[in-house]
Amino acid sequence: MSTTRSAIVTGGASGIGKACVEGLVADGWSVTIADLSDAGETMAASIRNSGGEAQFVRTDVSEEDSVRAMVEAAVSTYGQLHGAINCAGIAGCSKPIHEISIDEWDRVHRINLRGMFFCLKYEVAAMWPHKHGSVVAISSAAAIKGLPWSSDYCGSKAGVDGMVRGAAMDCAEQNIRVNAILPGATVTPLAMGSSNANPALAKTRTRPMGRMADPSEIASAAIWMLSDGATFTTGISMPVDGGMVIA
Ligand SMILES: NC(=O)c1ccc[n+]([C@@H]2O[C@H](COP(=O)([O-])OP(=O)(O)OC[C@H]3O[C@@H](n4cnc5c(N)ncnc54)[C@H](O)[C@@H]3O)[C@@H](O)[C@H]2O)c1
Repeated sequence: MSTTRSAIVTGGASGIGKACVEGLVADGWSVTIADLSDAGETMAASIRNSGGEAQFVRTDVSEEDSVRAMVEAAVSTYGQLHGAINCAGIAGCSKPIHEISIDEWDRVHRINLRGMFFCLKYEVAAMWPHKHGSVVAISSAAAIKGLPWSSDYCGSKAGVDGMVRGAAMDCAEQNIRVNAILPGATVTPLAMGSSNANPALAKTRTRPMGRMADPSEIASAAIWMLSDGATFTTGISMPVDGGMVIA
């Protein structure tokens, strides 16, 4: 059983989550890659072959039993859970609000909001007895900036930010920090196939720096939130968005 710091990264098989896994491993963390996609298995094997510590746990964050098993696997393999970066999420259906069906609305909330609740609940529970830990929720600049054809997604991410503030209050005396990061448009499969490609969004000012983020630019902020450099930071929603929310 390892005594190095251990973290879970949900959605760790792609995009921002994958960049978080790579950054944490480079910093010496033992990482549990939790994802629906079995690409996480190949990643974990490759990390171990290069001398790092990683395991893959196939996880559906929208299913409570699956999230409970994810946290149990992280604790049983690495001894303690010190950090978590919750990236698993999906895009909305890219329609104006009056065309969104309840099934489409439920689908994005089931993963982005209900899934985040399960992750926070079981990750915090594992950290609670140790009076130590840091949890990061990957929200979105869409939580605070109105975007066309995105009301389902914006609502799910605003819910995440509210939950993070409440959870941070619950956890503060226990020395467990809970924060959110609000990425702007980032070059990942999710962004390239979703609302960033929709024509309504092209009319809005979302890229003051004239480019999208590289996933590593979001990951470095999330990893800082897990680090000893952020020990007095809790309950915040930090945009990492190239100026999107101020534009
Ligand atoms: N890319 C962007 O522009 C952008 C901007 C703001 C916020 N975000 C947020 O960042 C997070 C990561 O997105 P990304 O762009 O890296 O996307 P991505 O599609 O590259 O990665 C998302 C990962 O989550 C996994 N996943 C999806 N549903 C899951 C579930 N139910 N259980 C477990 N894993 C599941 C996918 O398999 C995938 O590996 C998401 O929450 C997204 O909303 C992305």
